[in-house]
Amino acid sequence: MSTKNKLVIVGMGHVGAAVLNRSIAFQLVSEIAVIDVDKKRAYGEALDASHSTPCNYSQNIKVYSGGYEECRDAKVIVIAAGFAGRSLPPLKPGETRDRLRLAERNIKVVHDVMTSITRYTKEAVIIMISNPLDITTYYAANFFDYPLDRLIGTGTTLETLRFQRILADHYQIDGKNVNGFMLGEHGKSAFVAWSLTSISGIPIQQFDDYYQPKKLLDRDAIAEEVIRAASDIVDNKGWTNYGIAMGACRIAKAVLFNERSILPVSTTLQGEYGISNVALSLPCIVTENGVEQRFAVPLNEEELIKLKKSASTLTDTLGRHQI
Ligand code: 2OP
Repeated sequence: MSTKNKLVIVGMGHVGAAVLNRSIAFQLVSEIAVIDVDKKRAYGEALDASHSTPCNYSQNIKVYSGGYEECRDAKVIVIAAGFAGRSLPPLKPGETRDRLRLAERNIKVVHDVMTSITRYTKEAVIIMISNPLDITTYYAANFFDYPLDRLIGTGTTLETLRFQRILADHYQIDGKNVNGFMLGEHGKSAFVAWSLTSISGIPIQQFDDYYQPKKLLDRDAIAEEVIRAASDIVDNKGWTNYGIAMGACRIAKAVLFNERSILPVSTTLQGEYGISNVALSLPCIVTENGVEQRFAVPLNEEELIKLKKSASTLTDTLGRHQI
């Protein structure tokens, strides 16, 4: 494992560039190398970001662009390379946006990226962002002889951030007081584990009974708003990048500082709930070595059905792409 506190970011699109700049702002590392097929783009993003490092709010972080050889001594590699939904053909009548539509294109991208990375390292903890996230995570973790627990997908870390914000707004409280997870697919079948949700330790139902918000809590509406969030953002600005970058940086921080944080990240399941051969999000302990433990949390019957729906959706997609 590299002794250098170095982060490599592959893919300098809107998401990768947001990860770059959030990593500087959060002072996660002392060195950041960025890689992109468009070398001018990588150079420009690195040069621009490097001018923010002399600021008092940052450390003297070394920021530069380069090739995959920069992975050799990286502690964390973030993969944000790939096509975004706007690169796909227009939706047909009745069709709705789905990250799974990107599978064919981005499996090819991840193949090239993982082939290049594994020429230089199999020690770094890789944080996968490229969509469809659970598909690319499973593919990257299982087809390149990479240590399984060192390949982490951002998973429903992003849905959970969105859930915290939306539920906190409902109660007009700090989002950090919403404890809970969205689990399963990073996508349409993600679900809220309401049975595990609390507000500052007060079980959600008790909190709801005690603290009467201006309007009754519509749990389905909250979950739907989370699932719809990415589409709402894309409809208005054309892409998403800041929420996902925050999620990736949160995971990177847990690795880089060996925080042993419990985060809802996507990993290859090993028989939890009777599910294998698929990656999806469960709460996991994230350490400097990647994922140390997955928690097969106690789910009620409805939640278990939703988890298995996520698993079958993803398994079907893997099968359609012969993975
Ligand atoms: C999102 O939901 C990029 O899939 C990511 O914003």
